[in-house]
Amino acid sequence: MAKIQPLFVCQSCGASQPKWSGRCEACGAWNTIVEELQRESTPRGVGPGGRRLEFVGLTGAEPAPPRRRSGIAEFDRVTGGGLVPGSALLVGGDPGIGKSTLLLQVAAALADGTGRCLYVSGEESVEQVRLRAQRLDVAGRPVELAAATSVRDIVASLDKAGDVALLVADSIQTLFVDSLDSAPGTVAQVRASAAELIRLAKRRGFALLLVGHVTKEGVIAGPRVLEHMVDTVLYFEGERGHQFRILRAVKNRFGPTDEIGVFEMTAGGLGEVANPSALFLAERRGNVSGASVFAGIEGTRPVLVEIQALLAVSALATPRRAVVGWDGGRLAMVMAVLEARCGLALAGRDVYLNVAGGLRIAEPAADLAVAAALISSLADAPVPETMVVYGEIGLSGEIRAVAQGDQRLKEAAKLGFTEALVPPRRGKRGAWPEAMRVREVGHLQDLVALLAPAAGRRREETP
Ligand code: TYD
Ligand code: MG
Repeated sequence: MAKIQPLFVCQSCGASQPKWSGRCEACGAWNTIVEELQRESTPRGVGPGGRRLEFVGLTGAEPAPPRRRSGIAEFDRVTGGGLVPGSALLVGGDPGIGKSTLLLQVAAALADGTGRCLYVSGEESVEQVRLRAQRLDVAGRPVELAAATSVRDIVASLDKAGDVALLVADSIQTLFVDSLDSAPGTVAQVRASAAELIRLAKRRGFALLLVGHVTKEGVIAGPRVLEHMVDTVLYFEGERGHQFRILRAVKNRFGPTDEIGVFEMTAGGLGEVANPSALFLAERRGNVSGASVFAGIEGTRPVLVEIQALLAVSALATPRRAVVGWDGGRLAMVMAVLEARCGLALAGRDVYLNVAGGLRIAEPAADLAVAAALISSLADAPVPETMVVYGEIGLSGEIRAVAQGDQRLKEAAKLGFTEALVPPRRGKRGAWPEAMRVREVGHLQDLVALLAPAAGRRREETP
């Protein structure tokens, strides 16, 4: 007979240990160990028996069922061109960021009569979801609604159902499997509930959308394990104070992971933002010091954003460095290069760096734009209003080429920019776009000389 054994599981990283302790030995988190009861399963290997597997070739006789496009272009792009039947997606994000809103809109868009679209809410009552549907103006769509938290009930009602195309489970933290004693939201419950639904999705060939809440440290609460189980992990992020929301793929078995979808939260739900650059630059004030416009690429799409820097003389022994929307380590590197290779005096100053609009940039190509904002703030000399900047900075101060320069400049030209500071081009030498005055910057000192001639030392003086 199977023995019931207590097991102590960290709710943050999912590691298990035989004894309780105040601190998880695997991830170092405090007060995250919780006792979970688990049935001891086959301790000594699998034993004899089992079914013979049949191996097949890479191409089958029948074509794979087509992906289902929602028609919400920002969502379809992030998923890699629509939902794959039989796949499981996890949509993570802070509470209140708009996950339920997004998924209700997606379910409504996908409900076109071919296959049932089901929305199971464990957090809200049917009435509440209906109210939201009215607000989103999708109340007339054939989405089927239920309020439930028991996975057994969900599976039972689906097994009898006809052809299901989509199941939304909002949220995975509220679901429970009744064969486990742990409370909903614990690692064991989340894992078991997800596994059950994923198995069902694969067997019945419907797309499964799971909502997962994120803790304030930015981890999908408890179940790191969940990220391994699903095919696609999407993060829905944004600043509460801003109306922009960004849907980002961090894992995708069926598409690229560098795509983002940009939405705008309005009174009538989430609206698509087809041209994010215009939105991110909308509140820009011309001719102020400490700001530059970065011509970036997010996935397949160019996105222009404003980078703002503020350098202030510090009253603290250790000056503050605060970064929003960019990597703090990368900022430290750019500042070190500015000090060591260009002779700028940055020590003793608080540094604040902000990517306007709530976007998070991961591209090293933003280095040069960050440097431009820093130099501009230090010298109190504005970067020309009509100028965009991109390029990666090396440790010796050299500016390195980055990919897709033409696309960045084309987007900038479209938005009315007329000047650009870019890395020198190697190899092919086509013409830069017309209507764009492009200046190639080979070294960070050239940037200092351009923006603030009085601030740095000249290249000849470097030792
Ligand atoms: P919600 O989808 O409930 O967030 P989550 O499921 O991620 O917890 O979104 C809640 C927020 O969205 C709430 O603060 C109100 C706002 N909102 C709008 O601004 N407009 C709308 O049409 C809707 C439905 C919500
Ligand atoms: Mg919700």
